[in-house]
Amino acid sequence: MRRCRRCVLARTRTNIVIYRGPPSPVLLFVGEAPGRDEDRMGLPFVGSAGRILARAIEALSLEPWEFGITNVVMCRPPGNRFLPEAAGACAPWLQEKIHRLRPRGLITLGSHALEAFRPDALPITSAAGRLWGWGGLPLFPLLHPAALLHGPRYRARWEEDLRSLRSVLPDLRAGRIPPGETAPGPVPGTTGGPLAKTLLQGGDVPSP
Ligand code: URA
Repeated sequence: MRRCRRCVLARTRTNIVIYRGPPSPVLLFVGEAPGRDEDRMGLPFVGSAGRILARAIEALSLEPWEFGITNVVMCRPPGNRFLPEAAGACAPWLQEKIHRLRPRGLITLGSHALEAFRPDALPITSAAGRLWGWGGLPLFPLLHPAALLHGPRYRARWEEDLRSLRSVLPDLRAGRIPPGETAPGPVPGTTGGPLAKTLLQGGDVPSP
């Protein structure tokens, strides 16, 4: 993983941004792709969006040992433009990370993160704020915290979704998926996003 050259982002990245958190988090936050600060420090969500996420995590009273943070794409896209082909290239790594960390619940941040798992649930504005299932795990989509950096438009929605998240935290912690949201199969990622494509094309799950 640390020497990955599976896509063009390998040419411009400073660091591969892999994961921040304990070895066995109960909850895994999955963002989109590293920004400038993350690229420089090699850690996810350490810039301005990270500060908003940190406040949300504090409001949810999550303990540091309970959660980890990663991204769908592990290298910074120049200009912070999300590259779908990078998400495809990174899918085996994300798959491997989830397999290794074994979280009980997933919280996606932003539409590209949700798309990697449940493209059928898009658009993000209708999917965010309630519990879905993916690969046998409960999945809770939130808007991307960076949406709050561009004005007050999404603040009320963000706060409302956090309140909903707080109320379903026991389900996420227990790995309980909502009724009717059972996993489509034993293999995680069979719903059509980049993770699914990797698996369905017989993509390997490389070792780190
Ligand atoms: N935005 C993301 O999606 N991920 C990060 O790590 C930082 C900002």
